[in-house]
Amino acid sequence: MALNIGVLTSGGDSPGMNASVRAVVRAGIERGSKVIGIRRGFAGMIDGDFQELGLSSVGGIIQRGGTILMSARCEEFKTREGQEIAVANLKKNNIDAVVVVGGDGSFHGARVLSVDFDIPTIGLPGTIDNDIAGTDFTIGFDTAVNMATRQVNRLRDTAVSHKRAYFVEVMGRHAGYIALETALATGAEEVLIPEMPVNIDELAESLVKTKKSGKPHCLIVFAEGAGDIWEVSRQIKEKIGLEASVITLGHLQRGGSPTHIDRMIASRMGAYAVDLILDGKTALMVGIKGNDLVTQDISKAWKYRKKFSLDAYNLAKKLA
Ligand code: ADP
Ligand code: F6P
Repeated sequence: MALNIGVLTSGGDSPGMNASVRAVVRAGIERGSKVIGIRRGFAGMIDGDFQELGLSSVGGIIQRGGTILMSARCEEFKTREGQEIAVANLKKNNIDAVVVVGGDGSFHGARVLSVDFDIPTIGLPGTIDNDIAGTDFTIGFDTAVNMATRQVNRLRDTAVSHKRAYFVEVMGRHAGYIALETALATGAEEVLIPEMPVNIDELAESLVKTKKSGKPHCLIVFAEGAGDIWEVSRQIKEKIGLEASVITLGHLQRGGSPTHIDRMIASRMGAYAVDLILDGKTALMVGIKGNDLVTQDISKAWKYRKKFSLDAYNLAKKLA
C-alpha cells in the first residue's frame, strides 16, 4: 500500500531533526509513497504550507542542525477550530498520514490527529531535553550534551587558572538530563537539577568542603528548571562569600551539526515510522531502548515521567 505521508517538525528544534526528515522521505519513496513536507509544524498545517519532498530535496541535510522544515509553537492548533482547519488542509491535499517529530507537546498534537481525526500519525522524539518516557534517548540530546560539555571544559581551563567559581546554566525546563550528563562528563563539582530541589544550606556546606579539600576552583552545572540561577548564586555569596560568575549557555545548545549518535537514531526512527504507517499503525511513538527500536502508545510520553537516574546523580557527586 502506498500513501501520501506528511512530515513535520514541531516545538524546540533539535540537532538530528533533519536526519529524521531525510529518512522519512527516502524510506517513504523507496516504498512507493509520496512524502510531503509540512513547514513550521502545526502552524504550517493550519496555513496549508505543504511541499512534496523528492529524493534530492533532502540531499546534504543529514549533517545540518536546525530543521529545514522549520519549527513553530502554534497555540491555534490547541483549539478545536484550528485543528479542523488543519485537518481540512490535509484532506484537501490528499495527505493520508503524518509523522510528527517533536517533544511531548507536539505528541499531544499527534494524538489529536490520530485519535480525534483518525489520521494515522506516528511521533518521533525530537528534543534536546531527553525528557520523554519510553525512549532512552531523544533526537538531539547527545549533540546538546556534547556541546555543553565542550563549553564547560573551556570554563574549567579558566576556572583552574584563576581559582574561579562558575554557575553554568544548561537547558532543561522540566528535566535535568542535560545537566546531569554534562556534570558527569566534565567532572563538575556540583550539579543542580529540577528532580532534586536546591537546598542552599547543603550546597553551601558542600562548596565549603570542596574549598577545604584544596580545590580553589569550582564548576556548578545548573539545569534551567532547577530554579533561578542568579538568586541561588546571590544566596551562596551571602552565606559563604563565594563570588561565582553566572554563565548561561541557552540556545547555543540547540544548534550545530548533530553527532553521529543523533544522526543514527534519527535515521533509524524515521525509516521505522514509515514502516509503521504503511503497516497500518497509528498513535504510536518510536523510541530506542538499548540498541533496539521500540514503540509505545503516544500518550504514554506525557502520562509517565521518565525514570530519573539517582545512580547517575550520586555518581556525579561521588566522583566530584
Ligand atoms: P515540544 O513539542 O518541544 O514539547 P511544545 O510543548 O511547545 O513543544 O509543543 C509544540 C506544539 O505542539 C504546540 O505549539 C502546539 O502546536 C502543539 N501542542 C502542544 N500541546 C497540544 C495540545 N494539548 N493539543 C494540541 N496540540 C498541542
Ligand atoms: O527544546 C526544549 C528546550 O530546550 C527547553 O529545555 C527550554 O526551556 C526550551 O526549549 C526553550 O525554548 P524556547 O526558547 O524556544 O521557548
